[in-house]
Amino acid sequence: MERSILTAVSNARQPRLRGDYSAARADCTIEQDWSAYTAAEHALWRKLYERQMRLVPRYACEEFLHALDRLDLHGGIPRFDAISRKLRRATGWELVAVPGLIPDLAFFEHLANRRFPVTHWLRQPQEAEYIAEPDVFHDFFGHVPLLFDPVYADYMAAYGAGGLKAAQLDSLKHLARLYWYTVEFGLLRTREGLRVYGAGLLSSAGEFLYAAESAEPRRVKFDLERLLRTEYRIDRFQDTYFVIDGFEELIDDTAPDFTPVYARIRRLPPIAPDEATWADVPVRR
Ligand SMILES: [Fe+2]
Repeated sequence: MERSILTAVSNARQPRLRGDYSAARADCTIEQDWSAYTAAEHALWRKLYERQMRLVPRYACEEFLHALDRLDLHGGIPRFDAISRKLRRATGWELVAVPGLIPDLAFFEHLANRRFPVTHWLRQPQEAEYIAEPDVFHDFFGHVPLLFDPVYADYMAAYGAGGLKAAQLDSLKHLARLYWYTVEFGLLRTREGLRVYGAGLLSSAGEFLYAAESAEPRRVKFDLERLLRTEYRIDRFQDTYFVIDGFEELIDDTAPDFTPVYARIRRLPPIAPDEATWADVPVRR
């Protein structure tokens, strides 16, 4: 089974990161040297893009598809500065190039200031189906379109601020689960049915349909404390997906101060990735 892609928040604990960090600035950013991409890399990007476009229109949320329409990403690896100009006008966000996964605090600092770190290098052709570290295709195709949605864009900035706070409260383990189960693997319930908004799913070859269609995984209504207690696996498809009814709900439910929540769940046992709880509200496909 194809494994799920790792994310920036599972982070810095990764052994043998692939990127060249020697040229990175203090904030972990580098220049995207667009002219250095080869024709073969642009061709591989097009292949990955075309593969996802055969897949995602079926179940991707409309906010993602709407933004994708405006982005014109089919030709090859995009220029971050050109997309940043559009993004600044839309939601005040911009993209910064990074050598790969960066430390948690640097990552949160960027998000809190509406800068989204995008890995500049592309995977190898033999990694088309699965790659252990996020590359430019995952970071860009999966994450960037939704930054054009004003509500989602606010959620991401709030997440960054929450990350800086969680670090002080020694609760990064719990907050990382929020990123994992929303930003990377989140599902959305709409009138038309279940839709996908998580970047790990939108950029994946296999888990996208599994999350949207398979009878195997558990899909439960988003519940903050339940989610923060739920462990996750990085080496296989998810056992449990959390479903929201809209990005406004995500913002509202995560807006209150997490300090008492962290204090409460620290006294409770973690919930295993495949475990059900009595309070779960199942969501049908
Ligand atoms: Fe990601």
